[in-house]
Amino acid sequence: MEDKGHIIVTGGVGYIGSHTVVELLACGYIPIILDSLENSDPVILKGIKKITGITPIFHKVNICSIDAMKESLRDYRNIKGIIHFAAYKAVGESTSEPLKYYKNNVGGVMEILQLMKELKIPNLIFSSSCTVYGQPDTLPVNEQAPIKPAESPYGRTKQMCEDIIHDFVVANNEFRSVSLRYFNPVGAHSSALIGELPQGIPNNLVPFITQTAYGIRKELMVFGSDYDTTDGSCIRDYIHVVDLAKAHITAMDRLITESNKEKFEIFNLGTGRGSSVLEMITAFKEVNKVPLPFIITNRRPGDIEQVWSDTKHANEELGWKAEKGIKEMLQSAWEWEKYYRQNILVEA
Ligand code: NAD
Ligand code: WQD
Repeated sequence: MEDKGHIIVTGGVGYIGSHTVVELLACGYIPIILDSLENSDPVILKGIKKITGITPIFHKVNICSIDAMKESLRDYRNIKGIIHFAAYKAVGESTSEPLKYYKNNVGGVMEILQLMKELKIPNLIFSSSCTVYGQPDTLPVNEQAPIKPAESPYGRTKQMCEDIIHDFVVANNEFRSVSLRYFNPVGAHSSALIGELPQGIPNNLVPFITQTAYGIRKELMVFGSDYDTTDGSCIRDYIHVVDLAKAHITAMDRLITESNKEKFEIFNLGTGRGSSVLEMITAFKEVNKVPLPFIITNRRPGDIEQVWSDTKHANEELGWKAEKGIKEMLQSAWEWEKYYRQNILVEA
């Protein structure tokens, strides 16, 4: 296959990063993973090797140090771009430890931009989030929707990073960037060899569902059934992580071929369909034929009632569309949970 050049993937051992590394390899790019392993496990690198047959290039390094990154990268020439996943993402923790989040997420982006300047790396894909919209005034939410005051320091870091990257690329002619606003990434690779590995008690719905079905958690708590939605539970736009990963290749191709229309572009990455928490529970039980005990509890503070994405801009301008539905998301998440517990954890 044609060698399309090196792409730095910060946070490439993490959940979305590892699935993106698999897709980059499948498309002929050579990813260079930079990850501190603060929120990931090197066993995922073995999974990538099993899926692709290639041992990915990996450097254990903290992206908050430009010197450490330059040391790791000294042997590579002609790096085409950076996909920047590395960040902290626990919304609740960001409220109790805001400086940790500003330092890593905002400080990390500043180091990445300086690295681009010093090594003359022209293209950057940034991991943003639908969290920048808060509770939108109209649904589905498109990229022009006003940015609301952030619900958490985590959300604020995403807003700040987008502004910083915008200012950087506008000021420097040779650089360009795409910010991808993910809705709710779930699911795992169809091989079940890689997937989401939350540390401790999961904050997010789907890992909590799979751990409950496996018997690790007693019951799932549904946070509120009195919202102004069809069944009273919150609605989100869940998107398969492999669809999400593929969008990064499309966006990187766009930047490398200079097909971008603006120096800083923003795309929503969602399916355009909303699903409620109760619908997710029903679908999980139906698809996987396993019981899932749950109780209804109080609302979770800070939760948005409902949000889903307007996908027109990503579909028409980026040329990317989510293909996988809720069934594949919940089936693959369950297969990964079982594989992880029965194989990876047992071998460790
Ligand atoms: P993840 O925690 O699984 O992966 C992040 C990776 O970055 C981890 O491997 C971690 O070890 C690494 N990392 C963190 N700080 C680092 C540092 N200073 N230096 C080097 N490595 C570092 O998270 P994820 O779910 O894969 O998310 C990836 C990105 O997408 C993040 O920027 C996150 O904010 C964003 N995002 C995630 C979601 C989601 O629900 N998962 C939604 C929207 C946006
Ligand atoms: C989904 C729905 C919960 C757990 C978070 C971040 C956001 C983005 C994606 C990074 C909600 C309900 C959950 C549980 C439940 N991340 N729920 N019981 O809150 O949409 O978004 O992840 O950018 O910034 O805030 O995702 O998976 O936590 O929750 O009822 O045990 O499931 O109330 O309605 P959320 P989530």
